[in-house]
Amino acid sequence: MSTSESALPAQEQARLVEESKRLAAYQAVKDHLLPEFTKVGIGSGSTVVYVVEAIAALGPAATKGMQFYPTGAQSEELIEASGLNLQYISKLPAGQQLDVAFDGADEVDDDLNLIKGGGACLWQEKIVATSAKKFVCVADFRKLSPRLGTNWKKGIPIEVLPMAAPRVLDALKQMGSHNARIRPGLPGKAGAIVTDNGMWIIDAPFAPLLLPKDSETGIHAGNETSGVWTVDALADRLIKLPGVAEIGLFYGQSGLQVESGAQKPVAAYF
Ligand code: 5RP
Repeated sequence: MSTSESALPAQEQARLVEESKRLAAYQAVKDHLLPEFTKVGIGSGSTVVYVVEAIAALGPAATKGMQFYPTGAQSEELIEASGLNLQYISKLPAGQQLDVAFDGADEVDDDLNLIKGGGACLWQEKIVATSAKKFVCVADFRKLSPRLGTNWKKGIPIEVLPMAAPRVLDALKQMGSHNARIRPGLPGKAGAIVTDNGMWIIDAPFAPLLLPKDSETGIHAGNETSGVWTVDALADRLIKLPGVAEIGLFYGQSGLQVESGAQKPVAAYF
């Protein structure tokens, strides 16, 4: 947020954020939901509410032939409540793909790598995103930062098998994430948060993650010793830790025009 935006009264700031989410969502739907599409992934979070609103606003005739695939309980309810045709990714036959998937993000870097999982839905979100020919990220202006971990200080969300959580915390400390912690339950709920998949979430803060181009400018990829990592080296290491089901780093090295198996958005809207 710029100085002029942060100087706004809190209520006006909140209104500006909501308006940004809404505008980004309507633009993303206008640009990427083609009339011939039949299978559409719908992510999770507050921004996606506007994506679904924009789709529903097209009217029943426009969406009649489309099926909408959720990434968890929240988006399932959203799709149903909006009168859209709900379908499940488990029913998508092998060899088929979604035409497009829309989702939000917690932070987006210069290369359109993402941190996701602020809403604890990252595992199903990644399955839906990677099942789509196109993955479109919709995020308000607060989410854009040069390097992941600059604005989103809570850490990288990691979905873990509960019995493995202490071991994963030990490994994360060794990798330089000294303040990694198990995410608590929602207000009024004791214990850890439990995901739609019966797992826990660990939030692991790291120093801002480097991009390949940083090494060209003389900044070098780190490791356990330095605690500084490139996005891909960290993702590769985290996903191999025993007990880790999925990580909230959505990244790719194939450039922006990924059309298939995308873990990285083809476009991001702010
Ligand atoms: C949930 C997510 C969300 O997409 C992310 O947290 C952004 O949410 P919001 O649109 O409410 O800011 O990854 O797991």
